[in-house]
Amino acid sequence: MNKPYVICHMTTSIDGKVTGDFLYRPECEKAIDIYYEINRAYKADGYACGRVTMEGSFTGGAKADLSKISGSADENFDDFIADPAATFFAVAFDRKGTLGWKTSSISDEDPGYDNAHIIEVLSKDTSPAYLEYLRKTKISYIFAGNDDIDIDIALKKLYSLFGMKKLLLEGGSIINGAFQRADAIDELSLVVAPVIADKDSKPLFCDGTIKDFKLKGVTNYPNSVIWLNYVKK
Ligand SMILES: NC(=O)c1ccc[n+]([C@@H]2O[C@H](COP(=O)([O-])OP(=O)(O)OC[C@H]3O[C@@H](n4cnc5c(N)ncnc54)[C@H](OP(=O)(O)O)[C@@H]3O)[C@@H](O)[C@H]2O)c1
Repeated sequence: MNKPYVICHMTTSIDGKVTGDFLYRPECEKAIDIYYEINRAYKADGYACGRVTMEGSFTGGAKADLSKISGSADENFDDFIADPAATFFAVAFDRKGTLGWKTSSISDEDPGYDNAHIIEVLSKDTSPAYLEYLRKTKISYIFAGNDDIDIDIALKKLYSLFGMKKLLLEGGSIINGAFQRADAIDELSLVVAPVIADKDSKPLFCDGTIKDFKLKGVTNYPNSVIWLNYVKK
């Protein structure tokens, strides 16, 4: 194995949606508590999210302030490891390099997220100024493609450069879909809330392809919440 074992861990509606207003209903509260509990129990080396989820959950939509950073015209797009001692990671799939981080690690009240060293996964369609900003902020970054992110390259680098063996993929729908199409998901961990989503909600995998999984376990929780656990067939 030369890449991390990937577990896609998500809260879903009964109809398999993962975004939208249903997540904020009181009926979903218990499911979300269980989601965080299972996240911690996996004891993964880190968690990965798409740019939109990182904005919603961690940066509050802030953009990097590049006004005082010029960036080198002869930037050579080498990967950058800011903290060789880090052992727990927040991996941001941020194709063009836009997320506005204030610090090099996540600060969160939940120990399943707190103190994770940030790794930006970028394409070469990222400005040299943003790269300099990441170096100054002591955030690690890797390149995994020219204008789009190749999931397989990204995973191999997360393993070889950071020693990641177990990674939780935690949404949203678009980045989950990119992993699913790349056949990069080894296990599914779905906390199903007793709610049906509305028409604007997105599915577990945006633009997914057919793939078979086998059931590893089902757990009933209070408040009509179910945990479905599948592994790749
Ligand atoms: N139910 C749950 O458990 C759960 C968990 C997490 C999040 N969520 C929800 O998910 C929502 C966000 O999901 P989302 O689907 O809109 O966005 P997302 O998957 O969080 O982020 C998508 C973005 O990731 C970037 N990206 C990086 N590499 C990519 C690649 N190879 N292919 C495609 N995109 C790539 C792109 O950013 P650029 O556009 O900058 O290129 C893309 O627009 C939030 O509202 C949140 O509430 C739910």
